[in-house]
Amino acid sequence: MRRLPGVIVLLCTATALGWGPDGHRIVGKIADHYVSEAARPELAAILRLYHATSLADVSNWPDHIKHARPETAPWHYVDIPVNADRYDPDRDCSQGDCVVEAIHRFATELGDRTRSISNRADALSFVVHFVGDIHQPLHCAEDNDRGGNDVVVLIDGETSNLHRVWDFEIIRATGLDPDHYVDRLLAEFGSDTNVLAICHSGSVEDWANESHDLARDFVYAGLPESHQVGSSFLASCRPVADQQLFKAGVRLARLLDACLATKSDTPQH
Ligand code: ADE
Ligand code: ZN
Ligand code: ZN
Repeated sequence: MRRLPGVIVLLCTATALGWGPDGHRIVGKIADHYVSEAARPELAAILRLYHATSLADVSNWPDHIKHARPETAPWHYVDIPVNADRYDPDRDCSQGDCVVEAIHRFATELGDRTRSISNRADALSFVVHFVGDIHQPLHCAEDNDRGGNDVVVLIDGETSNLHRVWDFEIIRATGLDPDHYVDRLLAEFGSDTNVLAICHSGSVEDWANESHDLARDFVYAGLPESHQVGSSFLASCRPVADQQLFKAGVRLARLLDACLATKSDTPQH
């Protein structure tokens, strides 16, 4: 993370890649809640390098460096054609430059104790951020529209686009800050049976397919013909966005456990 103090990380502005800053903080906070005791000490040591105390604090750095490091931009999404059945690495990620392969790469780097602590800290931030991104449906689908970035919509007469609706607007319309948003998600989704079911729900590729299917069946299919997306429309999208944010946080915690909660030098996935 090139020695950016936590306070500067927090002050950087939003970009159009990934959930907005609040969405990534929400995912980081949920993972903070569910990460195992065994993984906490090493996680804290890595975070300390950047004066951070929580996963939420490092969750937005990959969006802040994308202009300085343009080669990282394709790691935030995977363009699975909306009408395709499922993720196909040869078609959708031939050079390994997509969010699915980026998560695999950085999880391996994070768990590799032969690497420098600063290398592993960068990897941690990438993993936290990209597990959030892969749960944003439009980061796993496209219809010749860059994941909805080219689909113009109107919110209260203001021009926006479908991708921004899912990155920012659904969350912003609640008026909740990340702390209160997380309280609500934990109350709504945090039963033991639900969390256990999410913990056993598949591979990184499965997460991408799940997001892709939501994009096809809910996001694109549910867009009003008028492309007007008012407050009641945003509220109608919230259950799906909330479920995705919560799943992202729980799955991130389990992935970090797999990388860090062992004493060996080899991460277990
Ligand atoms: N650029 C191209 N496709 C994209 C997607 N699915 N999400 C975000 N940015 C993109
Ligand atoms: Zn992103
Ligand atoms: Zn985005």
